[in-house]
Amino acid sequence: MDVNKIRNDFPILKRTMSDCPLIYMDNGATTLKPQVVIDAVMNYYTYLGANAHRGDYEMSAQVDAAFEHARKIAAEFIHAPSAEQVAFTSGSTEGLNEIALMLIHQVLKDGDTILTDEAEHASSILPWMKAEKKLNLGYIPLDEEGKITLENFKKVLNPSVKVVCVAQVSNVLGFEAPIKEMAKLCHEQGTILIVDGAQSSPHLAIDVQDMDVDFFVLSGHKLCGPSGIGIFYGKKEWMDTLEPVFFGGESNARFYKDGTVSLKASPLKFESGTQPIEGAIGMGAAMEYLMGIGKEEIHAHEWQLKQRFLEGIKALDNVIVYNAHAENGICTFNVTDHGKLVPAQDVASYLNTKGIAVRSGQHCAKLLPDVIDAFGTVRASFYLYNTLEEVDTLVENLKTATLENCVNIFF
Ligand SMILES: Cc1ncc(COP(=O)(O)O)c(C=O)c1O
Repeated sequence: MDVNKIRNDFPILKRTMSDCPLIYMDNGATTLKPQVVIDAVMNYYTYLGANAHRGDYEMSAQVDAAFEHARKIAAEFIHAPSAEQVAFTSGSTEGLNEIALMLIHQVLKDGDTILTDEAEHASSILPWMKAEKKLNLGYIPLDEEGKITLENFKKVLNPSVKVVCVAQVSNVLGFEAPIKEMAKLCHEQGTILIVDGAQSSPHLAIDVQDMDVDFFVLSGHKLCGPSGIGIFYGKKEWMDTLEPVFFGGESNARFYKDGTVSLKASPLKFESGTQPIEGAIGMGAAMEYLMGIGKEEIHAHEWQLKQRFLEGIKALDNVIVYNAHAENGICTFNVTDHGKLVPAQDVASYLNTKGIAVRSGQHCAKLLPDVIDAFGTVRASFYLYNTLEEVDTLVENLKTATLENCVNIFF
């Protein structure tokens, strides 16, 4: 993979931050956009403009074609059996909430158990915690590193578990869950498996059929696409039988005064109201871009960057890494100064003065701090445009991230 060539695709990499060349390492939060994605969005606004699935004129037919092409690309991106099983959403959060609401109201009963785990993002836990039914929310015990293991999963999977909702790759520690094996165990007892692919889909080749998951969600903005767009995928039986949670224009064929509503077939029944059309088109362009480079290449590159980071900090005695064994480009750590913790946010603010963008805090996984015994952490998350030299610059600056240096930037 030619990183320099890739970097040329991202115009934002030419900007500076804090008067330094921008070193963007906050890809777990969102990713930068290549010119092809910017062009695709601009092209919609410049030449297409119409709504989707509503007009009878040439320009609107062109929008329909571009919108549905984006859906086909999304289906290809996750290896879904058909584009009819891919519904657009505003992102992973909306997808996870929609799926949870549909199951809560149409499938689950009071007393049913939902399993998740303490490393999850809020979007995989809160829709169940806030359910109107009396559901039992259980947690798969994590191992000492913070991983889901099959062994621990088997300990808590019992017939009362009706739904399992986990991330394929967790957003703080970056561990990959054994989804295919979990799906097999779930389906042996009729349990539904929902997979949050927000952090896996930008980096790993996704095959929803091979994993045999019931539902899968992702966010466009985390894979070089626009924000405000994502998808949820569901197995055909679910997409055919579930009723949507939102109702409105374009999702129904007819409705009558007596309350009869005839919904359109999937996926349109799940897409009430005007969709973020430019977002869908932009996400399609991002997915084509990433597939053109190849997920294996991207993943190998991120792995190399992570190894460089781990090698670099070996020479330092002030960096605690929480996920050295996670096989991807997420590096979660804290910095100490003579044994005292430098607050994560202060480290991030210090790195900002060097042009380095990382995330600090709890990363929306607010049950995890107790598990890893760290109130907050710094997360550097690498992507295809990061370079070994950038990682060296990060390591170099961690050497000087002392309490004094980090606090002094505020005064
Ligand atoms: C694992 C995981 N799930 C869900 C989300 C929510 O994604 P979005 O904000 O795009 O809805 C995120 C975002 O950080 C995430 O990392």
